[in-house]
Order: sequence, then C-alpha cells, then structure tokens
Amino acid sequence: MKKAFLISLSLSLVALSSAHATPPTQPKAPGIESPDYAWDEQSSEEAQMLKMKGDVAQGKIAYQGCQGCHKPDASGLPDGTYPQLAGQHTTVLIKQMSDVREGRRDNPKMFPFAGKHVVDTQEVADIAAYLNSLPLPGHNDKGPGSDLVRGKMLYERDCVSCHGEHGEGNAEKFYPVTNGQHYRYMVRQIVTIRDGSRRNAYPKMVKVVKNYSVSDIGAVADYMSRMELPAKAEK
Ligand code: HEC
Ligand code: HEC
Repeated sequence: MKKAFLISLSLSLVALSSAHATPPTQPKAPGIESPDYAWDEQSSEEAQMLKMKGDVAQGKIAYQGCQGCHKPDASGLPDGTYPQLAGQHTTVLIKQMSDVREGRRDNPKMFPFAGKHVVDTQEVADIAAYLNSLPLPGHNDKGPGSDLVRGKMLYERDCVSCHGEHGEGNAEKFYPVTNGQHYRYMVRQIVTIRDGSRRNAYPKMVKVVKNYSVSDIGAVADYMSRMELPAKAEK
C-alpha cells in the first residue's frame, strides 16, 4: 500500500516536472542587423525542404499543431495577430518556417509549435504543400477604406514590381502572396520591416518603405487588403 502510494507519487512528480519543463527557446541567428546578412541565404535544412515533394494529406495531419492559432481553414485572425496562410506559395511558407526554426525571424510564441523538436523536415514540406493547396478564405480584415486613392498610387509606384498586380507575389523569388492577407497583420509587418525588427526582411523592400509614415503604411495596406484575385489564378 505504502509502496504503491510512493510509486504513484513519484509518477505524478515526473508528470508534473515534465509538464513544467520549459520548452526549448527560439535560437537567435544573425539577421538584417548584421553586416554580412544575405536575405536569401538558405540553411542546409531549408535547401532540403525546398527540394522535397510535400504530401498534402500528411501536411493536413501535421498542420493540426498549427491550427490553434492559424485556424482550421488557415485564415488566421482578422485582428492580425495570426496571419492568413491559405494559398501562400510553398517557397514562402518554407522560407518563413525555416527562418523561425533557425532564429532569423523572431517568433517566440510560435517556436514551441514549429521548432525542429516538434516538426521534422519532411513535415514542414508537407505542411507547405497542404497550405498552398487551400483556397483563399476571402474574408480577411480590411482597413477603413478612407485613403484608397493614395494607397493605390503608393502600391503602383513602390510595391507592384515585387508583390504583383493582384498581390500574387512570386513563388520563384520568395515574394509572398499578400492578396487576402489581413490589413492589421500587413500594417504590423510593414512597420517591423521598416524599423528592422523583422530581421529576415528583404533589404530592397526596407529601402522602399524606409520613409513611409504610419498613414502611408495604412493607406497602402488598406489598398492591398482589398485586391481581387483574377479567376484564372484561383486555386
Ligand atoms: C501559438 C500560436 C502559433 C502557432 C501554434 C503557430 N503559429 Fe505560425 N505564426 C504565429 C504568429 C504570431 C505569427 C506572426 C508573427 C509576426 O507577427 O511576425 C506566425 C507566422 C507564421 C508564418 C509566416 C506567415 C507570413 O505570411 O510570413 C508561417 C508560415 C507560419 N506562422 C506557419 C505556422 C505553422 C506551419 C505552424 C505549425 C507547425 C504554426 N505557424 C504554428 C503564431 C503561431
Ligand atoms: C524588391 C521587392 C519588394 C518590394 C519593392 C516590396 N516588397 Fe514587400 N516583401 C518582399 C519580400 C521578399 C518579402 C518577404 C521578406 C521575407 O522573406 O521575410 C516582403 C514582405 C512584405 C509583407 C509581409 C508579408 C507577409 O506575409 O508577412 C508586406 C505586407 C509587404 N511586403 C508589403 C510591401 C509594400 C506595401 C511594399 C511597397 C511599399 C513592398 N512590400 C515592396 C519584397 C518586396
């Protein structure tokens, strides 16, 4: 009796201590603040993931660990806390996941669910294939709609060359799809890219938004949040 009690006590202590074990913290790798930063440098794991063939069905299973934040349809949250991921280019998904795993894009909230300790290399490729196969949810957060003429002017002058006429990005060049992305998420990203705290940013884009005011950022992000995808480009 006493022995059984001690065994169960020690078992619960083991359970308790593992429940309280601190999850591995995100590593910190050099990013845009370092002089030899190369925006498109690939870790060996990233190069491997980009070559792998992702399995959509397996990706759906592995994505279960992500949907608490990014939601089952991968539409994220309108308040912009969690980005919309459905229909994003596989290359972009892999690069962003890899940057979080390596510590070039700081995301301590997501790391415990997306680090190498929980998601393996093949699973990242599978999740990317799965997310890319999902239709754009089409109910993203939009801005106030009050400065769209200027938003369009800025977009056409400064952004269209990379993000595309319909916000379709460029898979080959790792330029993200911004069509259907949440307004408030985009505002936050443009600010962090401008200010250097999104450490995996593209220096050519940083240059473009360097002198953007908060109202410029709001106007262009609002315009981007309202773009329509031409029917033929829909997945
Ligand atoms: C605890 C919440 C949480 C979980 C779970 C989570 N993420 Fe995230 N994820 C975030 C946050 C927050 C951001 C935005 C970070 C920022 O603002 O820079 C993000 C951003 C991303 C991005 C970048 C998107 C872009 O447009 O640049 C990708 C890709 C991503 N997550 C994929 C995943 C995958 C795949 C999983 C599961 C393996 C996952 N996330 C699990 C919170 C989470
Ligand atoms: C020279 C190409 C280029 C130009 C010009 C450019 N961008 Fe980007 N943009 C990128 C790349 C590449 C990324 C992703 C960077 C990374 O890998 O983290 C990005 C990321 C973003 C994101 C975050 C997307 C996400 O899913 O997290 C937003 C929003 C954005 N750009 C808006 C803009 C706006 C607005 C402009 C014009 C004022 C602009 N960009 C100009 C290349 C460009």
